[in-house]
Amino acid sequence: MELWRICRLFLLAALVSGICILGCEGEDSDYMSALGDPGMKRDSLRVAIESWNQCNEVGEEAPNSGSPRMADCFNLIDQVEVKHLVDEKDNRLGILNVSYAGIKTKSVDRYAAKKEIYLGNKCQVEDKPRPWQFWMVMLKSGNTDTYASRCPKNGERYGPFPMESRFPCFGDGCMNMPLMYHNYTSLEGDNNSSLKGSFYGTWDLDANVTDGVLPGNGTSYYSVTWEKEIGKGSWIYHHLLKTSPKYPWLMLYLRADATTGFSGGYHYQTRGMLKIVPESPNFKVKFRLDIKQGGGPHSQFYLMDIGSCWKNNGQPCDGNVTSDVTRYSEMIINPEVGYSWCKPDDFKHCPPYHTLPNGTRINRTDVENFPYDAYHVYCSPGNAEYPEEPFNLCDAFSNPQPQEILQILPHPVWGDYGYPTKRGEGWIGDPRTWELDVGRLSQSLYFYQDPGAEPVKRHWPSIDLGTEIYVSSQEQVAEWTVSDFDVLVPKE
Ligand SMILES: *[C@@H]1O[C@H](CO)[C@@H](O)[C@H](O)[C@H]1NC(C)=O
Ligand SMILES: *[C@@H]1O[C@H](CO)[C@@H](O)[C@H](O)[C@H]1NC(C)=O
Ligand SMILES: *[C@@H]1O[C@H](CO)[C@@H](O)[C@H](O)[C@H]1NC(C)=O
Ligand SMILES: *[C@@H]1O[C@H](CO)[C@@H](O)[C@H](O)[C@H]1NC(C)=O
Ligand SMILES: *[C@@H]1O[C@H](CO)[C@@H](O)[C@H](O)[C@H]1NC(C)=O
Ligand SMILES: *[C@@H]1O[C@H](CO)[C@@H](O)[C@H](O)[C@H]1NC(C)=O
Ligand SMILES: *[C@@H]1O[C@H](CO)[C@@H](O)[C@H](O)[C@H]1NC(C)=O
Ligand SMILES: *[C@@H]1O[C@H](CO)[C@@H](O)[C@H](O)[C@H]1NC(C)=O
Ligand SMILES: *[C@@H]1O[C@H](CO)[C@@H](O)[C@H](O)[C@H]1NC(C)=O
Repeated sequence: MELWRICRLFLLAALVSGICILGCEGEDSDYMSALGDPGMKRDSLRVAIESWNQCNEVGEEAPNSGSPRMADCFNLIDQVEVKHLVDEKDNRLGILNVSYAGIKTKSVDRYAAKKEIYLGNKCQVEDKPRPWQFWMVMLKSGNTDTYASRCPKNGERYGPFPMESRFPCFGDGCMNMPLMYHNYTSLEGDNNSSLKGSFYGTWDLDANVTDGVLPGNGTSYYSVTWEKEIGKGSWIYHHLLKTSPKYPWLMLYLRADATTGFSGGYHYQTRGMLKIVPESPNFKVKFRLDIKQGGGPHSQFYLMDIGSCWKNNGQPCDGNVTSDVTRYSEMIINPEVGYSWCKPDDFKHCPPYHTLPNGTRINRTDVENFPYDAYHVYCSPGNAEYPEEPFNLCDAFSNPQPQEILQILPHPVWGDYGYPTKRGEGWIGDPRTWELDVGRLSQSLYFYQDPGAEPVKRHWPSIDLGTEIYVSSQEQVAEWTVSDFDVLVPKE
């Protein structure tokens, strides 16, 4: 506020003397974008796609698709020519296609990580305080072959072990990567006044979805199409995700990841769009979200999903998968997800306490005051040595390292941060532009650290939006658009 007043004085002085000072036109002038592409307005697009198996690895490449990292990066020359920076040879690089690019490794998992760096170098845009590379579309299938021992348990090699109902798998090869198709961005419209491109494909390797049309029953599908009027407004990202009997648990997100480091959920260097990694409590996230199809009652649509990593003793993550812990928090906005596991008579699914905006803590045992309905589920890291009893440990297999998850639901207690306060807000037929105080919210949420450890400075190298469709008896389709995405941090 103070700064704004000073700013206004300057502006007045500038007007009087006929000088225009940029950046003083609103209260937001105390903030700047942490993104390489503030508000998705840059015509010369940078976007990439990645695919993960249940434990955020590759395991096996899909036939003729190469390693599951691809990019669509181009410069728009004089408003009339699209000059691509990544070609089909780059995009189809894979463990069987190592003819160039200098990627040397026999590991399919490491190959993908190195390919991401390679593509990042091609797409990189010089900027201050550091260069950035691309938006990241992320795909993930929850299929888990317990007999194949592909996924570690809390970061340690484990199994084989018998199948469990919570892990879908139709048999050998169920953890495959999807087929990936790519329509390179091109000029569109009667007078070439817009740009359009897409990534799309299926996990069902015997299906043919090359026509880019949502397939019927029996076939899984994903597509992300981006479209923009040249020189105007924001890119609009249109997402489609469909499950099938063989692939009943699928995820599709659009991520703004850090440009260096491990981002959330990974233990290799990654590339991204966040040229400044936001830190709690001082950052905001803005975007427009229009949900057209929800994905059924088990589609956990995340209004905002934030990911980070720190060790239980407060040290930063260093890639050691037995002591690093990925931390996630997300708000589920699908009102059809009718359950809330955190309950007064079963508070092992609740965080130990809730913190009010003024800092007052409410113990989950305080049945009168704890906002149980504001929480879906909390789970402790599998390697936590002193979690508060009673506790519920997170899925030990779905990340390369142990993880901690705190899922919240629309509720009046989040209104102070600009989040939905009622179920159904922002859902189908209620498209909205959100400005969320993710920084202050993420500062107030409970995350585990060892007793006595110095509280970590919480930083969030992954900020994303999208859905996770869990196993359902029917095939489900989710469809939504995202535009005007921005992450705002205070000016120094
Ligand atoms: C290797 O890359 C080429 C394009 O350069 C592609 O046509 C081919 O399908 C790729 N092969 C594999 C096995 O991925
Ligand atoms: C649109 O762009 C394409 C490719 O650059 C070009 O071949 C075509 O002539 C253009 N069409 C119009 C109407 O300008
Ligand atoms: C392109 O055509 C549309 C109508 O077809 C028009 O509204 C628009 O102004 C045109 N854009 C340019 C850049 O000429
Ligand atoms: C896939 O379908 C398209 C038509 O949509 C056809 O042109 C193509 O040959 C088919 N591919 C295969 C491998 O069957
Ligand atoms: C990709 O382009 C082809 C050919 O223009 C089109 O048939 C298909 O629908 C497009 N796919 C998507 C997902 O937009
Ligand atoms: C990884 O962390 C564990 C637990 O702190 C430690 O025992 C192990 O030595 C570490 N491994 C490496 C390679 O540093
Ligand atoms: C914090 O807010 C709560 C609810 O509004 C209020 O009851 C409490 O007195 C406040 N505590 C302090 C220390 O201001
Ligand atoms: C919450 O209350 C329980 C029982 O009254 C107590 O054991 C626990 O330590 C309290 N937790 C916190 C975080 O204060
Ligand atoms: C797909 O299957 C569902 C039942 O799972 C059924 O309701 C729906 O009509 C089927 N759709 C088509 C196009 O066959």
